[in-house]
Amino acid sequence: MVSAFTRIVASHHALVHINVDGVDCVAPAGEPLATSLLAAGYVMLRHSPNRHNPRGAFCLMGVCQECAIHVDGQIVQACMTPVRAGMVVQLRGAV
Ligand code: FES
Repeated sequence: MVSAFTRIVASHHALVHINVDGVDCVAPAGEPLATSLLAAGYVMLRHSPNRHNPRGAFCLMGVCQECAIHVDGQIVQACMTPVRAGMVVQLRGAV
């Protein structure tokens, strides 16, 4: 997937594998999941529950709730959730 976002600072975090919609991805452990997803090209994180409009991270500081996604079966704020090895991320469903 092509990303409009580019990391401008090299991460000092170890790279770990996560599963995003069934696709194995590599992300820096401990970094916010939302920014790791953006850097990997995942701009749309979910659909709105009523109109099914595409939604993506907006504030990146835990306020707007636009980054609510499923991780390991739980609804979390992707911007407030650190990447950890083996996490299973589901993006496409309405949250
Ligand atoms: S991007 Fe706003 S709460 Fe996560």
